[in-house]
Amino acid sequence: MRAAEARAEHPVLKRLPRPSQRPSEQPGLREVMAQFATGVTVLTSAGDAAHGMTANAFSSVSIDPPMVLCCVSRAARMHASIVSAKSFAVSMLGADQRELARYFADWRRPGGLAQFDSVDWTAGPCTEAPLLTGALAWLECELRQVYEGGDHSIFLGEVVSASRGTGREALVFFGGGYHPVTSQVRGATA
Ligand SMILES: Cc1cc2nc3c(=O)[nH]c(=O)nc-3n(C[C@H](O)[C@H](O)[C@H](O)COP(=O)(O)O)c2cc1C
Repeated sequence: MRAAEARAEHPVLKRLPRPSQRPSEQPGLREVMAQFATGVTVLTSAGDAAHGMTANAFSSVSIDPPMVLCCVSRAARMHASIVSAKSFAVSMLGADQRELARYFADWRRPGGLAQFDSVDWTAGPCTEAPLLTGALAWLECELRQVYEGGDHSIFLGEVVSASRGTGREALVFFGGGYHPVTSQVRGATA
């Protein structure tokens, strides 16, 4: 069966707009991916090439052994920094940290440790990578594998330290903007 026929018969696909639009009329990948709500992290690394970068291409991978991944543009300074440090840390941002998210996504920030001068942080006990104060949770990871992913690399890290703070409101990136999300604790009274 041809793809067009299969599509015409499929109960869900047949209700969707037809892909007859020319590519230039279709929404771009960025626009489509903006419909996927994500948390917001700042990746950091230590050493001579210490650096930080806002990233939402981050995911848990494995519980045993504990592993996570992040995808970093090969054009980003963060890329060379993680490769050089062979480790990275992840600060998961809270709702009140959108300015930090903007700052670490702004190419005009200084390089090296100087970019952390205007930010509260402590050095991770395992990797010495900056852990941003006030984040919801932190991970430190040893770099285990690097996979090519188009113009990004996929960094697979083994978690060597994990901790959480007391914050309850997460920063979420959705539709091209930042939004607060509050967790509802079961049994809590309003
Ligand atoms: C909400 C948000 C999420 C982002 N996620 C990623 C990401 O997962 N990977 C990436 O390479 N860049 C991501 N970026 C872009 C980088 O933060 C931005 O290009 C940064 O300036 C790169 O810094 P660097 O070149 O100094 O390392 C994101 C930007 C924003 C605003």
